[in-house]
Amino acid sequence: MYISKSFVPILKNNPSEAKIKSHQLMLRAGMIKQSAAGIYSWLPLGFKVMKKIENIVREEQNKIGAQEILMPTIQSSEIWKESGRYDDYGEEMLRIKDRQNREMLYGPTNEELITDIFRSSIKSYKSLPQLLYHIQWKFRDELRPRFGIMRCREFYMKDAYSFDVNDEDALYSYNKFFLSYLRTFKRLNLTAIPMAADTGPIGGNLSHEFIILADTGESKIFTDKRIFELNDDESTIEKKSLEDLRKKYEKFYAVTDEKFNKNDFEKEVSEENRLITKGIEVGHIFYFGDKYSKPLNASVDLPEGKKSFVKMGSYGVGVSRLVGAIIEAKYNDKDEIMKWPLSVAPYELAIIPMINKNDTSAMEKANNIYKKLEEKKIEAIIDDTDENFSSKIKKFNLIGVPYRIILGKKSEEDLIEFQEIDKETKNLSLDKIIKILTEQKEKI
Ligand SMILES: Nc1ncnc2c1ncn2[C@@H]1O[C@H](COP(=O)(O)OP(=O)(O)O)[C@@H](O)[C@H]1O
Ligand SMILES: [Mg+2]
Repeated sequence: MYISKSFVPILKNNPSEAKIKSHQLMLRAGMIKQSAAGIYSWLPLGFKVMKKIENIVREEQNKIGAQEILMPTIQSSEIWKESGRYDDYGEEMLRIKDRQNREMLYGPTNEELITDIFRSSIKSYKSLPQLLYHIQWKFRDELRPRFGIMRCREFYMKDAYSFDVNDEDALYSYNKFFLSYLRTFKRLNLTAIPMAADTGPIGGNLSHEFIILADTGESKIFTDKRIFELNDDESTIEKKSLEDLRKKYEKFYAVTDEKFNKNDFEKEVSEENRLITKGIEVGHIFYFGDKYSKPLNASVDLPEGKKSFVKMGSYGVGVSRLVGAIIEAKYNDKDEIMKWPLSVAPYELAIIPMINKNDTSAMEKANNIYKKLEEKKIEAIIDDTDENFSSKIKKFNLIGVPYRIILGKKSEEDLIEFQEIDKETKNLSLDKIIKILTEQKEKI
């Protein structure tokens, strides 16, 4: 791909409406374009990043045995009346009437719809557990959409739902998602901390928000610093192992302001380990038992013949929000450099030939390198514009392609100037460069 032919409408200056880094950068690098308040179009660069995030989320859902489906964006109000949430949800729900005057809505979440799907086919405990998910647009008519795609009205979410026969199995399902979230965020190069959370309009009694640290985050957090040292390296998808994993995290105080209690915080966390800061919520999981299965009458037959309402949980990841959250976490303000984690970078490597009208050799070289990289499944982009060198570098610092090759007069026959965006340049052979990138990619 040549940059001159790609749809990357870069802006020279920060748009005045953008207050935080991710919003500024996404507009400036031509990743998104606002089409109405809190509603955005995703342009090629932004869309590529979001799709890569989506794929990682998907892979980690599949690994815990969740099955992918796709539910519609438009729902009927009937099931929401059955659960009692049609009125409760209030003005955040976008309500629509069809030509028959039927009350429809643009789904803000899918507990009702999935329970309806479940109850129509699953009748026996023998079919449980069921873990189902989809990745679909949601609409919430937020009072104050802001910060670009971080808090918008139409956003892309992975939402999963679990169905189990009893509390014990349901907690096992909950813990599977707990693990899959830790693994998902790790692959996105983020440290997301699970924090005890309120259940809000979803309801229920057990809930964790997954939060990444960022000064621009909307959640105030109070935590024991030592929680950042934990990991899931030892965990396997077994009841005991997953329970131990959740307990290990729950041992450390970590809450958002809704759950904050000053006395508990000061009692449980010694002064040197206290951390009060801000973060971005990138995922949220809930266990709510029969809150929806009861009113919607979703039950299964038990071995002894009785019926029981299924025990449910729901599990959300803000796929579109993550694009902004990664920028907030990774942008280097001092050097004005964005470096996308390789796992989600819009391009993995930029080839920057120093173009000279009388000498096309650098461009030829760029094309040859591009072909070789393509064979090795490395996604590159060639800067074929006639901008000067420093403008090119500035542009890629903004777009955030993590690696680059610079083809100037200096390049010797076999050695190429290679740079990781925030490090020193090195002269390496193309084979060596391919090896470095391939090894990095294998770790994702
Ligand atoms: N208005 C929004 N814009 C972008 N992403 C959102 C928005 N609301 C929620 N999300 C994402 O979806 C995930 C699940 O949402 P949920 O917890 O149900 O919403 P909320 O936290 O607003 O009650 C959140 O963790 C967040 O990452
Ligand atoms: Mg939430």
